[in-house]
Amino acid sequence: MPKEQLYKKYAQFYDKVYSKKKYDEEIAFIKSIISNFKVKGKNLLDMACGTGTHAKKFADDGFKITGVDLNSGMLEIAKAKVKNATFLEGSMQAFKSKEKFDVATFLFTAINYNKNISDLKATIKNFYDILNKGGIVIFDLGLIKGQEDKKSGAFIDTYTENDLQIARISQWNPSKDNPDIHNAIFLMLIKDKGKIDFEIDEHELGIFSVEEIKSIMEKTGFAVKIYDNYTLKKYTKKSKRPIFVGQK
Ligand SMILES: C[S@@+](CC[C@H](N)C(=O)[O-])C[C@H]1O[C@@H](n2cnc3c(N)ncnc32)[C@H](O)[C@@H]1O
Repeated sequence: MPKEQLYKKYAQFYDKVYSKKKYDEEIAFIKSIISNFKVKGKNLLDMACGTGTHAKKFADDGFKITGVDLNSGMLEIAKAKVKNATFLEGSMQAFKSKEKFDVATFLFTAINYNKNISDLKATIKNFYDILNKGGIVIFDLGLIKGQEDKKSGAFIDTYTENDLQIARISQWNPSKDNPDIHNAIFLMLIKDKGKIDFEIDEHELGIFSVEEIKSIMEKTGFAVKIYDNYTLKKYTKKSKRPIFVGQK
């Protein structure tokens, strides 16, 4: 797959744009799952780790962390944030490892960076291969087939800190050419110490149904449970964000 230039200059502002994201609740959920599934071992792979916020919280909790991301800009920030971790540039579709992991996380719509079923199958198979027996993979699904309209439209997020002002305008729409793809366009408008800069970032995201993903995971060999938006409640069709847990 060609290397995409996602989050270019945007990388350095990612944490600011998502400063209100509830990372602690996600970590608490994942720790409950690790305990409920009786996972032994603390070797954790965070795929599509971005700027390493989850990685930092897990490392502080005694996990041995490997973070992988496609984007070197995001990885630079992760490396500075988490000193006692290994970070590698790589793609979820191609990632192979001789080292085996007890937990693999893959968070915040990262699964939607598979653009078709064959990429999705490759990614899920890679997770299966790198896990120890009894190990688990945990990921959320941000864009759900059949519910695309809920994620379509134009949105604005803002962040202000001293002389820094960030406005991110995003537009999410189904692709005109491919019913299985959603296009997300992000315009970052930044004013930093009086200097104005901007960047436009285009993302192509694959849309999958919950049933499609569950079926691929089961065929790959995982026992699958699906939860409701980082809570221990079971997923229902009304859930905003399904969370998949697959155990090898
Ligand atoms: C929405 S961010 C999520 C980052 C992080 N997991 C979090 O929760 O903050 C998506 C991340 O996926 C990465 N990414 C996109 N396509 C990828 C791929 N094919 N393989 C690995 N990482 C990818 C991007 O570079 C970005 O860091």
